[in-house]
Formats: sequence, structure tokens, C-alpha cells
Amino acid sequence: MSFPDQLEQIRSQFSSDLSSICSTQELESLRITYFGKKGLFTSFMLLLREAPEKERPRLGKLINDVKQTLLVHLENTRLRLVAEELHSQLVAEQLDETLPGKRSFLGVEHPVQKLLNRAVDIFSSLGFSVALGPDLDTDYYNFEGLNFAEDHPARDMQDTFYFPGGYLLRTHTSNVQVHFMQDHTPPIRVIAPGKCFRNETVSGRSHVFFHQIEGFYIDKQANFASLFSIMRAFCRQLFSSDIKVRFRPSYFPFVEPGIEVDIACLQCQSKGCKLCKETGWLEVAGAGMIHPNVLSKSKIDPEKYTGYAWGIGVERLAMLIYGIDDIRIFSENNARLFEQVAFNS
Ligand code: PHE
Repeated sequence: MSFPDQLEQIRSQFSSDLSSICSTQELESLRITYFGKKGLFTSFMLLLREAPEKERPRLGKLINDVKQTLLVHLENTRLRLVAEELHSQLVAEQLDETLPGKRSFLGVEHPVQKLLNRAVDIFSSLGFSVALGPDLDTDYYNFEGLNFAEDHPARDMQDTFYFPGGYLLRTHTSNVQVHFMQDHTPPIRVIAPGKCFRNETVSGRSHVFFHQIEGFYIDKQANFASLFSIMRAFCRQLFSSDIKVRFRPSYFPFVEPGIEVDIACLQCQSKGCKLCKETGWLEVAGAGMIHPNVLSKSKIDPEKYTGYAWGIGVERLAMLIYGIDDIRIFSENNARLFEQVAFNS
């Protein structure tokens, strides 16, 4: 077969091969078969050596012309296939609004923090400012300065976490009273939110750590009636304006007289249910008039000044308000549950 005939055969073979190509991948292997280093055109060029010398330039040009034409076809087909593939990719990726969306979880405020913030807002509006005290403290600030007798059971290893060097984890936020009285003179009108720790068995109702909001007011005429009205105002703002609040006698070494502040059960309206253990009331805070010994230990003259104080249990309130029935949930960091609480309140 003559050179031009062979060339024509390759050309027509290429055309029919090209017409059956369906993807850029197939096209690439076709390119290699014809135009690659070991491809048909390269070997065809090598055959030129066997042609008579004077014929070679003409035949060489002929081969090259055919090659260039075929390369143009190849490139056109490539462009068409790329466009087709891109199109089908876009169709496949098309937005399907019936698919469930991916929701990103941003996190929410912890219910205890939420309640602390609400309480701080309420007391600020009543004229109290915030003071903080140390979690790790000494016996003096947690007990002795608060008129706890040497043998008071709360000092037992049972209730208090003791550390070497005379340190302990505060069992209540009342330690802030002692710190603050040492550094300030009356009038004092302060709240102290913070963590407390007690060496107790963890259960659904009690935990080794929890939060309190201490409050104390010391002035020339601080009296019981004003303590009552502050407690009442706080409960009304936190719960509702018609909430029933009651005060009953209680005992804490650092107040005299001491009281417990209760609200009418939110679930049964004082009729008696499981939540209030059939009593009709829920405990909100311990409070009382600051004991004269506590004032004089901190160099405040009890003849000139009187004061009152309270301690509110934050987790207990958060459980009531957000409907959480196990105190351990607060330290489990169940973000989903906290999110629900945030949406429902
Ligand atoms: N510190 C007390 C407690 O932990 C609460 C309290 C504070 C009572 C202030 C009276 C006055 O139970």
C-alpha cells in the first residue's frame, strides 16, 4: 500500500474511533494511541526513512497536515465532552430543597448561668452591687468569722473538703461577707454569686458542688421588714407578681434570728404534691439578721450597725424554673437538653 493510502486509512480509522468516544477519559487514551510518543503517527513518521530521499519532504508535510487536521478534530471533541461532563455534574449537584439541612449547633447559655444572670439583674435593680470571693479559703472566713462554734457539725470532714495548709473549699458563699466586711465600711449593699462545695453523696437532689447567691446589707437601720421586702421583691420578679412567699424560723450560726424563705409550690399552688413533698411550699433561701458577733469579729460596731443576709440555692431554683428533675444534669453538659431549656424559657 502506498504511503498516502496508508495515511488515508489511519485518517478514516481515527474518524470512526473518534465518533464512538463518550468521555474525556476515553478521548485521552485515543490521543495516546494516535499521537503519543509511541503512537501511530510517531511510528508512521519513522517509516519515512524507508521512502526515497527526494520524496521525504513532500510525504513528511502530508503526514503533518493530516496530523494537524486530526488534532483539531480531537480538540473540538474534547471541548464538547468537557462541556457535557460539566453540565451533567451540575445537574447531579443541583440543590435539592427536600433534603434535610445540616444544622450547626451554636451552643446555649447554661441554665445555672442563665438564672445567675437573671438574679444578678434583679438585685442590681434593687440597688445591690456584685462582689466575689475565693472558692478556696480558710476556716476563718468560711466558719470562724461567721460565728461557727469550734465543734459545729458543719466543720466535720463529712461536709467540708479540706486541703493541706489550712485551706478548704468554701461550703457556702457566706465567706464573702467576712472578706467584704474586712475591707469595707457600712453602708454595705452587696450580692455575691458563686460556687460552693460540700462533701456529700451525689444524688438527684444534692451534689458536691453547686451555686449560691449570697446577699448582705449592713447599715444603721437595716431591719427584718426590709429583708422581707427584698426577698418578696426578688421572688415576685423571678416567678410572678402574685407568688406567695412565706418566712419561717430557722437556725444558722451567723444570723439571729434566722429564717427560711419559701414560695408556694409552683406545681400544686400549695395544695401538696410530690414536688413540694406534700408541704405546699418550696424552699428558696436561708436568711436572717447578721449576728452581732459576726459584725464585731470584722470590726463593725454592732451597737451602731445592723445587717441582714441571705443565701439562695441556685440549682434548686433552676430545677424549679426550667423543669429539671435531677441536679446531676447540670454537670453533665448535655448541650441538647440545655438548648431545649433555652428555647422553652
Ligand atoms: N450560708 C447558708 C447556707 O449555706 C445560707 C444563709 C446565708 C443563711 C445567709 C443565712 C444568711 O445554707
